[in-house]
Amino acid sequence: MKSLRVSLCTVCVFSPFLSMATSPTDNSLKFDSSRYQSVVATVDGKTVRYRAYEGIVYVRKPVDPRCQCMNIFVPEEYFQGKSVGAFTASTAPIFLPNQVGGYMPAMPIRPGMQSFPWEPYPHPNAALVALSKGYVVASPGARGRTSQGQDGTNVGKAPAAIVDLKAAVRYLRANDALIPGTAEKIISNGTSAGGALSALLGASGNSPDYEPYLQALGAASARDDVFAVSAYCPITNLENADAAYEWQFHGVADYKRLQMVRDTSFQAPRGFVSGTLTEDQKALSEELRALFPAYLNSLGLRDGNRTLALDRDGNGSFKEYVASFVRESAQRALDRGMDLSGLAFLTIQNGRIAAVDFDRYVRAMGRMKVPPAFDGLNLETAENELFGTSAFRARHFTAFSQRRSKAGGELAPSAVVQRMNPMHYLGAPTARSAKHWRIRHGTADADTSLAIPVILATKLRNLGYDVDFQMPWNQRHGGDYDLEELFAWMDRISTKG
Ligand code: DHB
Repeated sequence: MKSLRVSLCTVCVFSPFLSMATSPTDNSLKFDSSRYQSVVATVDGKTVRYRAYEGIVYVRKPVDPRCQCMNIFVPEEYFQGKSVGAFTASTAPIFLPNQVGGYMPAMPIRPGMQSFPWEPYPHPNAALVALSKGYVVASPGARGRTSQGQDGTNVGKAPAAIVDLKAAVRYLRANDALIPGTAEKIISNGTSAGGALSALLGASGNSPDYEPYLQALGAASARDDVFAVSAYCPITNLENADAAYEWQFHGVADYKRLQMVRDTSFQAPRGFVSGTLTEDQKALSEELRALFPAYLNSLGLRDGNRTLALDRDGNGSFKEYVASFVRESAQRALDRGMDLSGLAFLTIQNGRIAAVDFDRYVRAMGRMKVPPAFDGLNLETAENELFGTSAFRARHFTAFSQRRSKAGGELAPSAVVQRMNPMHYLGAPTARSAKHWRIRHGTADADTSLAIPVILATKLRNLGYDVDFQMPWNQRHGGDYDLEELFAWMDRISTKG
């Protein structure tokens, strides 16, 4: 992101009402506009005043109220009849960032400062930038794969997280007349697992598939479709992600990844794990990559009039198409003055990126995961844990891995697996998908295959949705790194006719 100079962020509490979670037993789902704190922050020399409504439990019968709650922040101007930029109290879009990572439980976000390791100074996070630009911010927490109820049973297994996000959207719609901003312009944002959930929220609006879960939680009766989706590196389409990973990385035997330690509610990096695939893993890679062309070809994706397809070896127009996003990304980097001359996978002629050697690029990028990348044979992955049950920690979610399970793992029902996959809802007659999409996946991000976001973006485009898809150059796994551009896109879609 371009440097946003920030002076100290000061917070003053004006309201006598301290923020507190609404008691789950007396949760009427009516927004209480009197329970807020007034906050003053300074962003880039500009004073930002807002009201903070925190810890609002958004369902009548929460099973984990620490996560099933939402923070809502509203620019103070909207209580004084004023506008901020192009927005007023009745037209301001609602920015809906989730903080989900690793499919773990997530708490709502607060406006504040954030640092990236490569930056000398912290910068305002997305919520604070949103407020400074006149957006209402509503940040829902959501249950995750390790969530447990008071009796110790698992309560956050699939599809709990998406059900929670939908319940939060329903709360906003049911209270649209009481909360400044318009629930017809909800813009969801998330990164990685949170990007996947953002995309799923956008794809599956109002689908009856989730109704029983929403009813059981006592969610508000309202629509849950959203206006727009921002998704950074979505770890999505999980049932096809193993094959997609090996389609991309099958020739790469060495792997390296950050190892995470985790508690029930957080993950933290603990050094690198690296190694070389065993003969068994190489055999698995071959088997998995062979599955990908049939899946890809079954989608019937198009780029204009050109059909995107793969032959049995995984070569063809779809591979060239994926490489074209890397080429465009390199071109933008070159145009910004970056020196790319040392990169053997690029052919540069007269200031233009003439070609990308995709196989060499993938080797340079490096493999992060071992096959199967997502549905682990020992039920060891985050995704295995996502598909557990109230009693079982983890399950398989592909027949491929379940047949080869080394842990005697069960297979999650396909209906549950599909409820986590936006691809299943795009074009479905019973779902209303978001009109506007912004998807980013860095060219240095090996957490999932580049094919996964390309498939999502292309399917959306083919269905006629408004899609802004790019692969930021040399960007690793992460999100919110280009907030100026993100908000320029949000402003554009929110204000055009
Ligand atoms: C995330 C990253 C992964 O590699 C994965 O498999 C699941 C989730 C994440 O960062 O959220």
